[in-house]
Parts: sequence; C-alpha cells; structure tokens
Amino acid sequence: MIVSPSILAADFNNLDQEMNKINNSICEFVHLDVMDGVFVPNTTFDDKLVKELRNKTNKVFDVHLMIEKPELVLDKYYDAGADYVTFHLEACPNALNVIKEYKQKNKKIGLSIKPNTNVKALDEYLQYLDLILVMSVEPGFGGQKFMDSSLDKIKYLKEQKEQNGYKYIIEVDGGINQSTAALVEKAGCEAVVAGTYLFKSDNFSDAVKGLKNICVQ
Ligand code: DX5
Ligand code: ZN
Repeated sequence: MIVSPSILAADFNNLDQEMNKINNSICEFVHLDVMDGVFVPNTTFDDKLVKELRNKTNKVFDVHLMIEKPELVLDKYYDAGADYVTFHLEACPNALNVIKEYKQKNKKIGLSIKPNTNVKALDEYLQYLDLILVMSVEPGFGGQKFMDSSLDKIKYLKEQKEQNGYKYIIEVDGGINQSTAALVEKAGCEAVVAGTYLFKSDNFSDAVKGLKNICVQ
C-alpha cells in the first residue's frame, strides 16, 4: 500500500518539523490539498506552498486540486514541483482534452470523483490516467467519517484495470485509519491518503508503517 500523508492535517506553524516526520517515515507520497472556496466550502493554499515544501523533501508530490477551472492552473503546479496533479471531473467539462494535452507533455495526471459521482463517469478517461482518486468523504475538510460507498467504486476500477491493462494508481481519500485502510485494501485500493489519523497519532512513523503493511484478512 502506498501511503500519502495529507499535510492539511499538519501543524502549519511547525511545517519544518512536520516535514521531518514525513521524511523520517516510509511513506512514498505527500498529499497536498488545494481548495479555492468555490468548488469546496474551504480555502487552503496554492502553488507557492507546494514550491516551498518541494525544497524540504524528495517524496512524491500528490497534488489534489479541489478548484473550479483546474485547466487554467495545472502548469503552475507542475512547475512548483508536483509529480501527480489530480483534478475533479465535476470541475472540468473539458477533462478529456485537458488530460490528453498533459499526457502529451509527459505529465502524470489524475482525476478525482466526489462521493455522489457515479464511477462509470470515469470510463472514457481510464485509458489515459496515471491516478484515480476516489473520495470517501465530501471534499473540503479533514477529519470526516469514511463512506463505504467508495468500496464498490474501488472494486470497479480494479476490475477495469485488470481487464484492460490500465496503468492508473487507485487512491482513496477521506477518513482513512487502520481499519478503513484494511477495507479499501481488500477492495483493490493501492494508495491511501491519510491526514488526521497520521498527524494526530502518537507516533507518525509507526502509524505510516501500520497503513503500509495492511494485509487482506
Ligand atoms: C478532504 C481532503 C483530504 C483530507 C483527508 O477534502 O481531500 O485529503 O486531508 O483528511 P482525513 O484523513 O483527516 O480524512
Ligand atoms: Zn485530498
């Protein structure tokens, strides 16, 4: 299981210390939640923070854009050092052209869907994507309860991947802890985002290890 700590739950007054926790753990990714106050009822940070944090770690940057018109700012996030940039299908009527454009530029690109969006809405994009982010909470805030309606979506995406040889990473975001991670792992999930669970744990490294080593029961 790939583990992607969400810095939304980090202490923003002690970011150096929080980045050290990340660097001293065996997580592979860092999840960066960008919110514009329009697509979601919350505002966080933009590409400037991504750039600032880029100097503090070599982990893979997994940027999650919860913004309207993501196509206007994708370049800024890649330039800031994002490895994967994921935007919401619901925020971009022209998603197919956007994805094709960035694949031509050799960028890693992902799509995310909110809990109420049917997973089959992703069908026409699957062959192009590097990552699919299934939201298991309503996007906007950390610390919410995991919605198990995400499990059938993960299963569907796993089946499609196996049947067609698609390359995308299946990632889940929202309400992940040791027990919900076991559920998503069993459904076929390959990467978990975890904010509250990791940053509020007594031992960040051990909590990451716990998520990484989850085995199907
Ligand atoms: C919510 C964000 C999540 C959030 C997850 O909109 O996309 O990445 O940080 O937080 P937890 O793990 O606390 O649910
Ligand atoms: Zn996120």
